Amino acid sequence: MPLKAYDLLIRHSKLLGTTQLTEQLVDIGIKDDLIVAIAPTLEEPAATELDAQGLFVSPPFVESHIHLDSALTAGEPHWNESGTLFEGIQIWGERKQNLTLADVKARTLAILKQQATQGVLFVRSHVDVSEPQLIALRALLEVKEEVKDWMNLQVVAFPQDGIYSKPENEALLEKALEFGADVVGGIPHYELTREDGVRSVHRVFELAQQYDRLIDIHCDEIDDEQSRFLEVIAACAIRTGLGSRVTASHTTAFGSYNNAYAYKLIGFLQRAQINFIANPLINITLQGRTDTYPKRRGVTRVKELWQQGLNVSFGHDCIQDPWYSLGTGNMLDVAFMGVHVCQMTGRTEIDACYEMVTSNGAKTLNLQADYGLEVSKTANLIILDASDRYDAIRRRTIVRDVISQGKLLTRTTPGTTEWLGFQ
Ligand code: FE2
Repeated sequence: MPLKAYDLLIRHSKLLGTTQLTEQLVDIGIKDDLIVAIAPTLEEPAATELDAQGLFVSPPFVESHIHLDSALTAGEPHWNESGTLFEGIQIWGERKQNLTLADVKARTLAILKQQATQGVLFVRSHVDVSEPQLIALRALLEVKEEVKDWMNLQVVAFPQDGIYSKPENEALLEKALEFGADVVGGIPHYELTREDGVRSVHRVFELAQQYDRLIDIHCDEIDDEQSRFLEVIAACAIRTGLGSRVTASHTTAFGSYNNAYAYKLIGFLQRAQINFIANPLINITLQGRTDTYPKRRGVTRVKELWQQGLNVSFGHDCIQDPWYSLGTGNMLDVAFMGVHVCQMTGRTEIDACYEMVTSNGAKTLNLQADYGLEVSKTANLIILDASDRYDAIRRRTIVRDVISQGKLLTRTTPGTTEWLGFQ
């Protein structure tokens, strides 16, 4: 038997060029787990062929911000009736007393499979490390290893209750890094005082340098215009030079800052070159709860950060948990809501929202060296039942095929509706 040039050959793919869709369809040749050829027509034989039928072929979705440890617990032990972040934290505080390794692993795996079928192959999950046994962290690290052949999972050690709110929390955060968490997290706006919040950001940077980890801090997730920890993160990033390894998640208070302060801050953020994550589904739901009218949207200044050339991605944040009882893990839902909440309705802005759930997320996760549809990169790609990014977001189309590390992982068949005309 002659050796086949490709293990998998995907015919008739519509790809993005540098920024635009190229109208000419191409074939993608995959050998082992790598993309080895992209050309209008590949002649060499392949073990398996797949016809993309001219559909939009994209790099996978990147879920840059989610909490897998709390997913699928909505209503346990009771529903979040006020809809606030703080009732959510209180309910989770009760639910996490009953965590077991099997419970967290089962829910995490269920969501990861749900995400993968919808084209998500890269996930950054925060995991609460305020709980003394670190059960959720151990569960996620085990799952990370178990799914590594089809899913790339990054784990953030997230001190949900604050680093300084209880004497043991600081040590638990460090222990989580010793156990192998990929990223150091923080929650400065939930520390007991402004001073503790500032100290917590400094501590996160120290730990990141000491353990050589990335940083992703829940920052200013509140409507309080006086919550100003983003400037502390920017200052630490400028002084340490860690910029692209640092992410500020949520920063919803930025939407409430006065313009004079915001203008000054944008200059500092330009110098800092950190990443930003907005979570439109959750921000529009949790924030603005203490407003009467006018009622704020509670989302950070996504469009302005993007216009400044800063890296912004969108996350789903929660799926059926104490903070958000809805959600399926579909990143096109996230992008769709981002278009609305951030008023990103220009054509280039809609395309940008697609990038916020794909390539921008990859940059936030520091994955860009091996992300994208290029020869010699790992063959992770999705075939959408869509003609382009705008079409995918508008209709929130299904992902027909998911190819992970060179192998076909899932196939979804579109549902069909028939017009019967009162027959
Ligand atoms: Fe979050």
